Amino acid sequence: MNETIEIIMKRKGTKSYTNQQVSETDLDAIISSGIVGPTGRNLQNRHFTVVQNADLLKQINDGVRTLISAPADYNPLYGAPTLIITSAPVEDAPFAEQDCAIAVENMTLAATALNLGSRYLVSPTRFIESEPGKTVKQVLGIPAGYRSVACLIVGYDADPSQTPVPKNMNVVNYVK
Ligand SMILES: Cc1cc2nc3c(=O)[nH]c(=O)nc-3n(C[C@H](O)[C@H](O)[C@H](O)COP(=O)(O)O)c2cc1C
Repeated sequence: MNETIEIIMKRKGTKSYTNQQVSETDLDAIISSGIVGPTGRNLQNRHFTVVQNADLLKQINDGVRTLISAPADYNPLYGAPTLIITSAPVEDAPFAEQDCAIAVENMTLAATALNLGSRYLVSPTRFIESEPGKTVKQVLGIPAGYRSVACLIVGYDADPSQTPVPKNMNVVNYVK
């Protein structure tokens, strides 16, 4: 199979991570993969925030858990050592959702190609954009006038034996 298609097929939303941090080289490649994705009207007006500070990750993890009233043993960031948040302007960003989603998916594929685990997440944005998340949003340095839209977590997969979730492939019609 083509190497790129193989990576796409291999990607999975990883739910457990080791403590090992992502190297700077891998992180740069992942972020660049997000930045080069297409954007509506080539506006390129989304921002990337990389969070590797353990205290801040815990605040976001616990903030999400509280917001969604999840049990104490549920960790919405799954113990990943890196969280990448994409954000876009609140005003005049007609394609914000799609632009950020594409960037995040590109980054999950880059992470997979680098043998790293990753998972697409929106739950951190719910906390960051909520009243209790206001201070954390400021500390994160998300640009003024921007809102967080989509995220991914990245790290080393603690359970590599976990296979990708099966998908229903019967969702296509062809018109020839
Ligand atoms: C738009 C979107 C939002 C998601 N938000 C979350 C989330 O907040 N928390 C989470 O654990 N997973 C989240 N996911 C991951 C999905 O649950 C996951 O992709 C799905 O279960 C399929 O599994 P797979 O990624 O292994 O194929 C999200 C995925 C997408 C595309």
